[in-house]
Amino acid sequence: MKFFVTVPVGLEFVAVQEIKDILSDSTIQYEDQVNISWPSNWFVTKSEKKCAKRAVRGLESEDLVKVKPIDEISEANKLKPDVMPGLIAFETDQPQSLKCELKSVKVLFAEILEAQLPDCREDVEIFLKQGMNLREDSGWISALDFWHRWKESHTREGSATDSLSFRVTFQKLRSYSSSGRPNFSFSSVEGSDWLGYGIGAAMPHWRVNLKHVHIVCMAYKSSIKLGIALTNLDGTNIRNREAFGATSLQVQEAFCLTKLSSPPPGSVLLDPFCGTGIIPIEAVQHLVGDRAVYGIAGDVLSEETERAERNSIHSGSKNLIEVLSADATRLPFRDKSVSRIVSDMPWGRRCGGFSRNVSLYPKFLDEAQRVLEADGEAFLLTLEKGLMR
Ligand SMILES: C[S@@+](CC[C@H](N)C(=O)[O-])C[C@H]1O[C@@H](n2cnc3c(N)ncnc32)[C@H](O)[C@@H]1O
Repeated sequence: MKFFVTVPVGLEFVAVQEIKDILSDSTIQYEDQVNISWPSNWFVTKSEKKCAKRAVRGLESEDLVKVKPIDEISEANKLKPDVMPGLIAFETDQPQSLKCELKSVKVLFAEILEAQLPDCREDVEIFLKQGMNLREDSGWISALDFWHRWKESHTREGSATDSLSFRVTFQKLRSYSSSGRPNFSFSSVEGSDWLGYGIGAAMPHWRVNLKHVHIVCMAYKSSIKLGIALTNLDGTNIRNREAFGATSLQVQEAFCLTKLSSPPPGSVLLDPFCGTGIIPIEAVQHLVGDRAVYGIAGDVLSEETERAERNSIHSGSKNLIEVLSADATRLPFRDKSVSRIVSDMPWGRRCGGFSRNVSLYPKFLDEAQRVLEADGEAFLLTLEKGLMR
C-alpha cells in the first residue's frame, strides 16, 4: 500500500529515518535522492514563501567562528530537482503501524496516483476536469478502502461509500522558482475547482461539501501526487502545546531538530530563544529511555517564559525542563556545561528586526561557544543567513 507524508522542508532525511524506524519494511521512494546524512558544517536552505530562505545548520562548537558560506548546499541536494520538497512517499505492508504517530509528519495521505501535468494551462484544465483519467486500477480503490478502515479505527464513524461527500485541495509545493517567476500557469483555486469537477464527474453519487473525504493534489513543477488525507490538514500542530505566540515554530520542525541533534543520553539540551518552549519539550518527550535528556528553556521576554512554563505543564514535561528568564547573550551557565543548543533564533520578521539581530547574533554565537562542551553542537534555525557567516 502506498502512502505519502508532508514533513519539514530541508529535514526530510530526519523524517525518512523515523519512518524507517517505525515501518521496518517500508520502501521509500527516491530514497537515494533524500539526504540521510548530515555532514558537519552543512546547511539546508528552505523556501517557505517567495524569496524567504531559512537555514538549518549543524555546527561543532569549535567551528562556530569559521562557518562555511551558507550557499554551499550539498551536491546531493542540487541533484534532486524533481523530488518534491517536504514530501516523502513510501510503500509498506504494515500500515497498521501508522497508527503510532510519526512525530516528523505533518499530514499523512493514502496515495491514489502520481502523474505528470501537461505543459499548457488549457491542457491542465482538461486533464484535471477529466479527473486525471482515474480508473479503478489506479490506487483509488485501495486508498479509499484504507481511508474507511482508518476512519473506523480512529473515529469510530464509518461512512457508507455511496453517501460520501468530498472536498479537493490543490496544493502547490513551490509556487515560485528561485528567480521569483511563477512555477504554475494557474492558481491553486483553479486547480481545486477543475479537479473537484473531474472527481465529481467520476463519482456522480458523491456530494461536494467539506465533510468526509479530503482529496489533496500536491503539485511540484510538473509532478503531481493525489492522495486522501488520513489526518487533519491543520490539526497536528497542537501536540504538546496549549499556549502559542506570534513566532511559534511548527512542532514537527522542533521534533526533527531535536532528533537531528542526537544529544548524548543524560545530557543538557538548551534552547536560549525558547518562545513557547516547544523545542526542549519535544526533546524531553521523545528522546526517552536511554536517550533521555534534560531540557533548559530560556527567553528574554516574560510572556514567552510564561508560555513555555504553561506548555511544560500541559505536556507533562515539568519535571524534565527548567524554564528561565535569560538573555541569550549573557547565559547564566558555566563554561562548557551544555551539550546541545537547539534553537529557532529571532528572524527579525515578526519580532525584533535586522539591526537588532546584527548585534545579537555575534554576541550569542560567542556565548554559545563559551557554554558548549568541547564536543557540543549547536543546531540553529534562522532566516538571517548573512549574519551567520
Ligand atoms: C523565533 S522565536 C522562538 C519561537 C519558538 N521556537 C516557539 O516555537 O515558540 C525567538 C524568540 O527569541 C526571543 N529573544 C529575542 N531576543 C532574545 C535574547 N536576547 N535572549 C533571549 N531570548 C531572546 C524572543 O522573545 C522570541 O521568543
